[in-house]
Amino acid sequence: MFSTRTNWPLKPNRLSELLRERRARGLSILDVTESNPTHCGLALSAEEILAPLRDSRSLVYQPDPRGLRTAREAVARYYCERGVELHPDQIFLTTSTSEAYSFVFRLLANPGDQILSPQPSYPLFDFLGALNDVEVLTYPLVYHDGWQVDLDALAAQCGPRSRAVLVVHPNNPTGSFSKKLELGRMGEVCRRNNAALVADEVFADYGFESDAERVVTHAQESVALTFTLSGLSKICALPQMKLGWIVVNGPRELQSEALARLEVIADTYLSVNAPVALAAPEWLAHRCNIQSEILQRVQANLGKLDELLVPGLPVSRLKVEGGWYAILRVPSTRSDDDWVAELLVQEGVSVHPGHFYDFPSEGFLVLSLLPARDVFADALGRVISRICAGG
Ligand SMILES: Cc1ncc(COP(=O)(O)O)c(C=O)c1O
Repeated sequence: MFSTRTNWPLKPNRLSELLRERRARGLSILDVTESNPTHCGLALSAEEILAPLRDSRSLVYQPDPRGLRTAREAVARYYCERGVELHPDQIFLTTSTSEAYSFVFRLLANPGDQILSPQPSYPLFDFLGALNDVEVLTYPLVYHDGWQVDLDALAAQCGPRSRAVLVVHPNNPTGSFSKKLELGRMGEVCRRNNAALVADEVFADYGFESDAERVVTHAQESVALTFTLSGLSKICALPQMKLGWIVVNGPRELQSEALARLEVIADTYLSVNAPVALAAPEWLAHRCNIQSEILQRVQANLGKLDELLVPGLPVSRLKVEGGWYAILRVPSTRSDDDWVAELLVQEGVSVHPGHFYDFPSEGFLVLSLLPARDVFADALGRVISRICAGG
């Protein structure tokens, strides 16, 4: 009756069961996996968010496969502020970054073709790949006092069936940005193999310190056909508004062919609604307020973590350049799942095990840096004492 691509194990895993039981018993949870910005007590202004939705132009349906031009112009201004001039026709609006990935995979890949994603990274790629009939292979990010792409492994992995190399900038959860030298090599690997580069920049505005080696945005890449994906969910902390986009650039001929084909895909769905597209310019114009509050929050939580992680403990954190997450290195005296279960049952703290993000070995826990400061401090105090007692 059902497609094999939906043959997922649908039974809740052990950690979801533990969470469900705890909630059913009315026990509290200090949730350090929470990265929904609308759940973290941020000062999101109801007036700034809701007023732009009341626009009488929403009463008229004016379909455009790329999405409303005024919204695409606002997206072009966002890149212009990063020193990149884009034509609004290089931009397609989508309802989310996830939808943007689907459009790009449908554009590039036949069933059974491959895409290469970084490991560790964002857990949704396996699902997006399966739903679009592409096989997801990984290329390693390696940690030596900071994260780097293993470029030789990437080049070896990229072959005739590879249609795209994904980059997450900065990556979730490693918080590492692409560097100019890395991008140069990756663009070459893509060009040689007739594969595209797909760059997810949803967290790009959340860098902690400036770095001249860092890529500003992939939306100016010219060596390989490049799709830069982003949206309001992180940039404006508005995941509920469901607005993302794709920027297309690269060698001229490939770019115009991609734009023409993408237009047909987008025209088939016409998925972005008018009120959100009309409101987008205003939301983007106000993004600095919420972004600075979020940056203060994540940096304060990171500072608290460093205060608690005094030297000599069996737990430490990995270097992070930006984004909303931190990674703890913990003793491999038990599996990450066992650590997470113990922290939940004994301390009432919820964190993610590294394997959710496809870490290649045990010994890593992933934390969101977005929770309220008191929640984060309380939770991490408990996490660290438990690991010290049990490590
Ligand atoms: C790397 C990355 N890309 C995309 C998304 C989702 O973005 P959207 O809400 O636009 O689909 C997330 C959400 O956490 C993410 O971590």
